Amino acid sequence: MINIVIGSFKGGVGKSTIALNFAYELSKNFKALLVDTDPQNSIAHFLCKDFKEGFSEVLISEASFDRVVQKVLLDSGDLDFIPTGLLSLKAPELYEDKFNLEKIREFVRDISTYDFVVYDTPPRISKHIETLLEIADDFLVVLNPDPATFSSFIIFQQFIESKNLTNKTHILVNRTEPTKVSEDFSKMISYLCGDKNLGLIPQDITVSDSQGHCKPTVLYNPTCPFSIYVKKTLDKYLLVKGIRRS
Ligand SMILES: Nc1ncnc2c1ncn2[C@@H]1O[C@H](COP(=O)(O)OP(=O)(O)OP(=O)(O)O)[C@@H](O)[C@H]1O
Ligand SMILES: [Mg+2]
Repeated sequence: MINIVIGSFKGGVGKSTIALNFAYELSKNFKALLVDTDPQNSIAHFLCKDFKEGFSEVLISEASFDRVVQKVLLDSGDLDFIPTGLLSLKAPELYEDKFNLEKIREFVRDISTYDFVVYDTPPRISKHIETLLEIADDFLVVLNPDPATFSSFIIFQQFIESKNLTNKTHILVNRTEPTKVSEDFSKMISYLCGDKNLGLIPQDITVSDSQGHCKPTVLYNPTCPFSIYVKKTLDKYLLVKGIRRS
């Protein structure tokens, strides 16, 4: 089983969108589970799914995996999905408190039959993410190409090094545009991150259209620029890992 944590030090960069589309794309060839750990429950909203019970109920009220997992039936294949749940919103402090290594390890043992588990996370580096990173095989960091990101990226790099996460970290630049700022930023990331850089995903209107239709973009419009580049970045990730699509 490979645990992939999708995160960022900034909000609104496309973490949840990438998590959903990566997990769906993986589910075509592998047994994949998508776990939302962000109290915003964005993925349930994108898929128009109920989120009364989820990961926070597993951590806080010992709800079983079978009770909270949803089979999201999609046109081609299906995806197993656990929303964050309501208790993360109703009892945020308790949720963070229960988000400890012991509980997370217990959860990981229960889901060990999956090939890939993709975790979406809240928009900051917190104890919550540090705990998830302990069990993560890979940390996929989503960035947007703007100058403000660049200054915080330097601080973020220091965090990665201080926690010995360099080998797990992969960088993905989302929402690139054909502008000089965006292109310069992308070049800089390629230079700084070398083979850690999984590539770029363009800004694409199809993403919000698909969310309005309760579907991952790679399913709603498999040939739009976003979908093509999600598939490319996933192929690069699998290549780096030495894994073949079956
Ligand atoms: N490549 C893209 N092209 C166009 N729109 C995008 C792209 N990626 C994400 N978006 C849009 O950006 C918005 C934010 O995306 P998303 O919710 O996935 O970000 P996030 O990083 O998870 O946010 P948060 O920090 O609040 O959890 C959404 O409206 C989504 O449709
Ligand atoms: Mg999100």
